[in-house]
Amino acid sequence: MKYRKLPLVFLLCFSGLLVTVLAVIAQQSATEAPAGFSTPSFNGAQSVSNGVVEPPGDTFALDQQHFEENEDIKAGLGPVYNATSCVTCHQNPVTGGPSQITEIRVGHKDQNGNFVNPTVLINDGQDSIAGRSIVNDRAICPQPQEHVPVTETIRTLRAVNNTLGDGFVEAIDDNTLIMADVGRKAIAQVKAAAREFLERRLSPEQAGTLAETLSTGQWTHDYPISAIEAKQLGLPVNTDMPDEVMELMSL
Ligand code: HEC
Repeated sequence: MKYRKLPLVFLLCFSGLLVTVLAVIAQQSATEAPAGFSTPSFNGAQSVSNGVVEPPGDTFALDQQHFEENEDIKAGLGPVYNATSCVTCHQNPVTGGPSQITEIRVGHKDQNGNFVNPTVLINDGQDSIAGRSIVNDRAICPQPQEHVPVTETIRTLRAVNNTLGDGFVEAIDDNTLIMADVGRKAIAQVKAAAREFLERRLSPEQAGTLAETLSTGQWTHDYPISAIEAKQLGLPVNTDMPDEVMELMSL
């Protein structure tokens, strides 16, 4: 009887050990990213970097100085702009943080429901700024002042983001990482399936290269690859379709 209980006792001991080991691992890897590090505004010398490695010759204090610099026309500001320094918006409670300031982003949808960036007219309609998304609130003189065109029916105010903690994985939303992992697996699966089909007609090398091309997002999902393009890709395509088939297809 005594011996029969042994495996269970062993299992209990082992799981106890496992819990201890996992607890130790969890403790070791639980160092949080230093998101709200010490960055006194306008006193870079006393700022403490969050540890992101800088290129040679650069320092966190120098970066902060640039971030807080007030730009003017001589420094290249304009003709349209939103503020004269990064810190004007990224400010609370220390340089780099967020604030209550907003930027306006606008656009509209085309006939197919795709989002289109606006072209903003300036200078009494004589000039235009194409491919906008942000419509700048300010200008260095009256002529380039942007206004939201009436055609832009999608309008949103974007609040200033916190930049502190950027560069650390903690700054990325968990769902983004999960979706990236799912996306990576989906690509691998599609690639393997495409390779299997292609290997029936092509050499393993050709099939591998083409499976990579077809599965890694070079076209949108709804894009129909034409016969000419398929031939260029190296697919054994035949356009010699019997008339009967063509007639059937036109029905
Ligand atoms: C007029 C206000 C304003 C100014 C000035 C400004 N920003 Fe921003 N910043 C924003 C807003 C608003 C967002 C969010 C944009 C969005 O989500 O569409 C943002 C987002 C960011 C982000 C992304 C943060 C994240 O975690 O996603 C970074 C980095 C950034 N800004 C850096 C800068 C730098 C560098 C400068 C100076 C060259 C600057 N910003 C100047 C308003 C501003």
